[in-house]
Amino acid sequence: MKFFIDTANLSQIKEANDLGILDGVTTNPSLMAKEGIKGESAVFQHYKTICELVNGDISAEVLSTDFEGMVEEGKKLAAIHPNIVVKVPMIKEGVKALKWFTDNGIKTNCTLVFSAGQAILAAKAGATYVSPFIGRIDDSGWDGMLLIKQIANIYQLQGFKTQILAASIRNANHIIAAAEAGAHVCTCPLDSILGLLKHPLTDIGLAKFLEDAKKFA
Ligand code: E4P
Repeated sequence: MKFFIDTANLSQIKEANDLGILDGVTTNPSLMAKEGIKGESAVFQHYKTICELVNGDISAEVLSTDFEGMVEEGKKLAAIHPNIVVKVPMIKEGVKALKWFTDNGIKTNCTLVFSAGQAILAAKAGATYVSPFIGRIDDSGWDGMLLIKQIANIYQLQGFKTQILAASIRNANHIIAAAEAGAHVCTCPLDSILGLLKHPLTDIGLAKFLEDAKKFA
């Protein structure tokens, strides 16, 4: 399973990248706004900086909601760097745009996916990635991980090549469950990635080894 970090914060991206296990980055307009980035040239420069930091797929989201606007924006985003993946919302115009990008060799991430039907449409349009939002589904009283399992099953049965990118991850357990459910990628906040490291027996065991090492040092 590939690991992406879900942030536009450069120091968090660097910290995750320094672990040596990072395969890419996802951003969205809310995450960009959180970093205080304003104006098209600043936004484009920020994507470029992320691409230069991380050697992997970097999702950059279109803001238009009509087909022509999405295509124009997506072409400009894709021109920033070969690793840019154009992120397109799961709406009717978005499906048309996904197909256009597929036909024109531009990688895509279909975002805001909350059902198996939407995931089938994304795959039919040739999306590189489909992003079911696990945490937001859990927040609304449903089980996000069941959706990952359902999509994984459908994609396998039908031979779809679209990769399942588990998004809206809230904790380390979500990452483990997404891996078990068949997600190809997990995009996670830094805290959730670092949460995978934690186990009290590791800390206790290491403290004991270091204490005992003093006896023969
Ligand atoms: C995915 O690409 C989105 O950026 C993200 O995972 C949304 O997560 P949230 O529900 O924590 O905002």
